[in-house]
Amino acid sequence: LRATLTFQKHFKAIDSDIILATMPKSGTTWLKALAFSIVNRNNHSVDESPLLFSNPHYLVPFLEMHLYKDGNIPDIDAMPCPRILATHLPYQFLPSTILDCSNCRIIYLCRNPLDVFTSTLHFVLQNRFASRPLASLDVPFEEFCQGIYPYGPFWDHCLGYWNASLKNPQKVLFLKYEDLKKDINSSVKKIADFLGYPLSAEEEEAGLVEEIATLCSFENLKNLNCNKEGEIQTVFRAKHNSFFRKGEVGDWVNLVPPSMANRLEKLMQEKFGESGLTLDIHGNSV
Ligand code: A3P
Repeated sequence: LRATLTFQKHFKAIDSDIILATMPKSGTTWLKALAFSIVNRNNHSVDESPLLFSNPHYLVPFLEMHLYKDGNIPDIDAMPCPRILATHLPYQFLPSTILDCSNCRIIYLCRNPLDVFTSTLHFVLQNRFASRPLASLDVPFEEFCQGIYPYGPFWDHCLGYWNASLKNPQKVLFLKYEDLKKDINSSVKKIADFLGYPLSAEEEEAGLVEEIATLCSFENLKNLNCNKEGEIQTVFRAKHNSFFRKGEVGDWVNLVPPSMANRLEKLMQEKFGESGLTLDIHGNSV
């Protein structure tokens, strides 16, 4: 909370800023790698990318969880432009400087709630945030349904960015993890166009879209030494490899029983209502 308040008070957005927003466990690490590679492709060739030596969370730091941690005020003006920064804060909590800054762009990545829930439980267990092994899914599932989850209710988080993307599509791009998995090449181009770094015909012909997609792929990142070893200290300590578990769509079927899934699906339909936002829970099960 202290970090969030400091971030809200002291951060000054500039037009070239790129803000990556997600609910935890929605594919933040992937989005960071993609945005970093797209924007910096003229500074580093793909085979010399800093992603080969650094976990993506160092290259694109979190605002409230990392830079403004403990109320610290970082010298953010010293960062090279464009600054690519990440946040898990709901849209309603972003400082007005980001919302008012005419050219600064926001990309939101959303993921189906059952995979978010499943990924979160594994992440907590892998990093031993829980004091003892999980005896039953009942309590965490009930809490998730009630909106008791880091960064607030899943529904409000998605809808905040969804509505902002409808109102101002030049400023907020709303993406779904499942669509990235389905067609990463189109997603790379979409992100590049939105950020104002479109790939030229020559770059496309040279296969740069595919190269970026492969560099940032789950299989590639997971197997790099920089992601296999070590840990990162933000507001908590997490093993680098805990950000790369399975990277699949529909892995929830291995954890969540159908009765819970049906309940969550109904709840989602109710919460999203007439907003036009839909997330596919059943369609892509592994
Ligand atoms: P799983 O636990 O389902 O495997 P975040 O980055 O927001 O913490 O989300 C982590 C989730 O994204 C994990 O999901 C992780 O495996 C997956 N992930 C990480 N890197 C990925 C990549 N390059 N491609 C696809 N999924 C990725």
